[in-house]
Amino acid sequence: YVIGVDLGTSSVKVLLVDQEGIVNYSVSKDYPLIQQQPGYSEQDPEDWVEKTIAALQQLATESNITPDAIEGISFSGQMHGLVLLDENHQVIRNAILWNDTRTTPQCKKIDQQLGGKLLEITKNPALEGFTFPKILWVKENEPENLEKTNVFLLPKDYLRYRLTGKINMDYSDAAGTLMLDIVNKSWSADILRTFEIPSTICPPLVETEDYVGTLLPEIAELTGLSSATKVFAGGADNACGAIGAGILSEGTALCSIGTSGVFLSYENDKNKNYGGKVHLFNHGKKDSYYTMGVTLAAGYSLTWFKDTFAKDQSFDSLLDEAAQSTIGANGLIFTPFLVGERTPYADAKIRGTFTGIDGSHQKGDFTRAVMEGIVFSINESVEIFRNYGKTIDTVISIGGGAKSELWLQIQADVFNARVVKLQNEQGPGMGAAMIAAAGLSWFSSLQECAEVFIKADKIYEPKPENVQRYKEFYQVYKDVYPHTVAIN
Ligand code: XUL
Repeated sequence: YVIGVDLGTSSVKVLLVDQEGIVNYSVSKDYPLIQQQPGYSEQDPEDWVEKTIAALQQLATESNITPDAIEGISFSGQMHGLVLLDENHQVIRNAILWNDTRTTPQCKKIDQQLGGKLLEITKNPALEGFTFPKILWVKENEPENLEKTNVFLLPKDYLRYRLTGKINMDYSDAAGTLMLDIVNKSWSADILRTFEIPSTICPPLVETEDYVGTLLPEIAELTGLSSATKVFAGGADNACGAIGAGILSEGTALCSIGTSGVFLSYENDKNKNYGGKVHLFNHGKKDSYYTMGVTLAAGYSLTWFKDTFAKDQSFDSLLDEAAQSTIGANGLIFTPFLVGERTPYADAKIRGTFTGIDGSHQKGDFTRAVMEGIVFSINESVEIFRNYGKTIDTVISIGGGAKSELWLQIQADVFNARVVKLQNEQGPGMGAAMIAAAGLSWFSSLQECAEVFIKADKIYEPKPENVQRYKEFYQVYKDVYPHTVAIN
């Protein structure tokens, strides 16, 4: 058996997976977001460790598998979050997360001082969510905390450190810091020097699939796992989500609707230029890459809608009502910019809208508009890929968006592509388990592992008449941003 740990934004999920890719046991544990001010989003790293240990404990007790049979463990993690450790490797302050948007001034500074060099080195523009602007924010606002810093880590790297005692960061996650030379796979001395950030705070880099050690004896004792369990580095949640959906060769693409929404495409060519309009990151598979666009408030928009207007209703009945509405939600359009937007606008200040409200509209129309608006937003990423010559004809759908037939068909019709739902899809945790499985040499490669572990369940073909109607609504959707940007 192997364990895949997915350290998410709202919870940690652990999966126990056998050699066939069958999930034998899974459990997740929640932890809170700390939001002291609008735009701030933090977490206490101790919560991650505590909840992961509790989840592993439960897995060890309830799965009835002897500890020695669990041979390996690996990790997937929410990207970009900044964890600062002092010389005793104690956490200095709460982690500042990917969805924290306080760093607009720092992003401007990065742009001014580095100009085109930033895109050349990191292949990405300066965005609030990335780690480097967060480091600069700490430097400017809490200089004493940066002075105390011995090393910085990303969320899952901190968790792995606490389980193994080893400090590392893998390339797929390091790529999201905005400090990595993506092609040469090294910390960029140039970027660090420009902002007088000591390179000594950057951790050693490893491959996502690398073996990095075993569980500490005290962790083995606490969790009931064996201290011989081999630990593999693991990767960014988007890289792991892609691995867990078999996005491991050119021509494959993924749509993930979780808290955030991601459209991701495998990329062989590290020099492919999308003008910085979509992210280009190192993949978890060695020496490969992926490009991706991000909708910040995807599933988050639907959760917000339910919590605000239909708190006592189940998601299922909410979605049933949405199915009674029509394509284009009877003329109601939603833009999901509840917390700003990443792709394509890179605008932390813009906010969302409902447009075209009619006296006859029901709650189901609003729910439907939210679901469609999220997919329209993701389609803006798809459009960028296509405009740069990428063929997108088949899309694997994962996350909350793959749990509803209605939403899957909306994706097929809006993307005008075949959408595939997987059997027993488990998200990034499965990618983490596959990293451990390949690391243990159960398979010669992640791809070989994917052939055994990942199977298609159902295919949703785009329906030409729906595609046409959605094209019209999508044009209206796109018109909303330029008209609302000024009032925000
Ligand atoms: C990616 C991003 C989010 C987080 C969610 O750039 O910010 O998808 O990785 O965990």
